[in-house]
Amino acid sequence: MSKLPKFKNDKLIVGLETSDDAAVYKINDEIAMIQTVDFFTPVVDDPYIFGQIAAANSLSDIYAMGGEPALALNIVGFPNCLHPDIMAEILKGGASKVMESGATLAGGHSIEDEEPKYGLCVTGFINPNKVLKNYGAKPGDILILTKPIGTGIINTAIKADMASEKAKEKAINVMTSLNKKAKEVFDKYPISSCTDITGFGLIGHSIEMAESSEVTFEININKVPIIEDAIEYAEMGLVPGGSYKNRNYFEGKSSFDNIQEVYYDIFFDPQTSGGLLVSVSENYKESIINDLKENLETEFEVIGRVTTKQDKYIKVAMGEI
Ligand code: CO
Ligand code: CO
Repeated sequence: MSKLPKFKNDKLIVGLETSDDAAVYKINDEIAMIQTVDFFTPVVDDPYIFGQIAAANSLSDIYAMGGEPALALNIVGFPNCLHPDIMAEILKGGASKVMESGATLAGGHSIEDEEPKYGLCVTGFINPNKVLKNYGAKPGDILILTKPIGTGIINTAIKADMASEKAKEKAINVMTSLNKKAKEVFDKYPISSCTDITGFGLIGHSIEMAESSEVTFEININKVPIIEDAIEYAEMGLVPGGSYKNRNYFEGKSSFDNIQEVYYDIFFDPQTSGGLLVSVSENYKESIINDLKENLETEFEVIGRVTTKQDKYIKVAMGEI
């Protein structure tokens, strides 16, 4: 991306520079358009559930900007050696999530491909003054994560045929849930910064937020919601390559205070359709927590706090820091 020519456009409120979740284009003082595209290869065997996961993941980037999805287009790659019913199931799963989001599915494009691929291009809208960015976290903020982590590890266990039914079910539940309700709760509060947790894992996305906000995040391991089976599978070595890649790339900017090795695997684990990570003034802690309790089906938690910039962008420890 960094090799692309630089575009200058005053209407582009959020573009390439800040590696945010989606592009935001101001139409007038009241309305801005958000655009995002995401697609990937199957993470589970069931085509309908794969469609749901991929669509929830694509829609999430609109929610991470604080927006409302309006229009979605399918992007499909499909091998002609597979039965067309499988593609129909993927699309049906995706459509179910677009429907749940309240957006309209308006078409798309498919090509022949060696491996199935599916996702959405989504357009959403937002008031330009209410855009949530991945920067702006302030010292004194608390950090809230709205879904448990560990889906990359469980997907690896699923592919190795070693995941229990229970673990599989939990991971699918996390990956297919929309970030819609969490976003609707956050709409009511002055959120300082927001992103969704996906391929870079909890630590990678936290570093992006902390670095661009020029602050440090202190994260308490005991508070981070983790799909418990992920700990067991990580101990067995069922860790996706992406986790090691993330660790290599991001570890220098974070400090881990004498924790078990297995937590590195989990904290750097690339997530599929993960939760929202927001920072908000501690003053709102109680009311936000109550609000989330009433509205969310996924496990959420206050996982840490924001401080002025220290030697590392992220400090992870067992217990309060
Ligand atoms: Co994102
Ligand atoms: Co994305």
